Amino acid sequence: MGILPGTQRAWIGLNRTGVNRTGVNRSGVNRSGRRAGEKQPDLLAIASRLYGDDPYRKPEVYLREYERLFAPMRDQPIRLLELGVHRGISMQVWREYFPSATVVGLDSDPAPANFPAEERFHFIHGGQDDPALLRRAIEAAGGAFDVVLDDASHLGAITARSFAFLFEHGLKPGGVYVIEDLCTAFTSGGDFDAAPYAPPEIGLPGMPRVFPSHEHGMIGLVKQIVDHGQAPTAAGGYTRYPIERVTVMTNIVYVHKAE
Ligand SMILES: C[S@@+](CC[C@H](N)C(=O)[O-])C[C@H]1O[C@@H](n2cnc3c(N)ncnc32)[C@H](O)[C@@H]1O
Repeated sequence: MGILPGTQRAWIGLNRTGVNRTGVNRSGVNRSGRRAGEKQPDLLAIASRLYGDDPYRKPEVYLREYERLFAPMRDQPIRLLELGVHRGISMQVWREYFPSATVVGLDSDPAPANFPAEERFHFIHGGQDDPALLRRAIEAAGGAFDVVLDDASHLGAITARSFAFLFEHGLKPGGVYVIEDLCTAFTSGGDFDAAPYAPPEIGLPGMPRVFPSHEHGMIGLVKQIVDHGQAPTAAGGYTRYPIERVTVMTNIVYVHKAE
């Protein structure tokens, strides 16, 4: 009970569930059960608790980078798409970390049992490179995403198809596209489109003018993205990928879309 009349509800910005646009209810508690001003656990703390010893857990180095990237948008009503859901643990992490976000998870396997049941979570079943499904993901979220995070196939060619569609049609201007596990480009002998890790020497006398380069899988894709990132200088304007900045870290890349 204790329901406010509609006019008062509108005046203080509460919706029908008594939660306002920043996810805070009348008692000052947000969707994660935190009170305003209460110190929030960081992403690493949340993920460590939820993943436990899951072998697919996101490595600590990613989580520390993501904390820096995501902290400014933590309480905003952002839209986030993650390609690759697996047991649904990262979905549980986003549920706690982003109390006001709309989140879509896509996987070629069926939804896991613990996929969050809240209305703001949506599951899409199918291949990460199917444009019809990616369009459905955008519709489910109610528009283009602030963050797209690819943790699915880790195959360069398939990852590239998702990027080509989503960076153009599914990412907001100013949004960020994150690709994880670039190291799979060097995991030869497995299912990945990889080649053995063989970094060329840098700058030795007699080096060829065309630099030998790793052109396979995920690393080959990152190099293509870097090429497109140079278009405003080299070609006098963006290609169909308006890339403002590419940040390559150990095993993850951020591709920032121009405003
Ligand atoms: C590393 S797991 C995802 C882990 C999850 N993001 C997390 O952090 O808890 C990779 C997932 O990608 C899915 N996957 C692999 N290839 C895919 C594809 N081509 N399209 C969609 N999902 C794919 C797998 O079924 C698997 O569940």
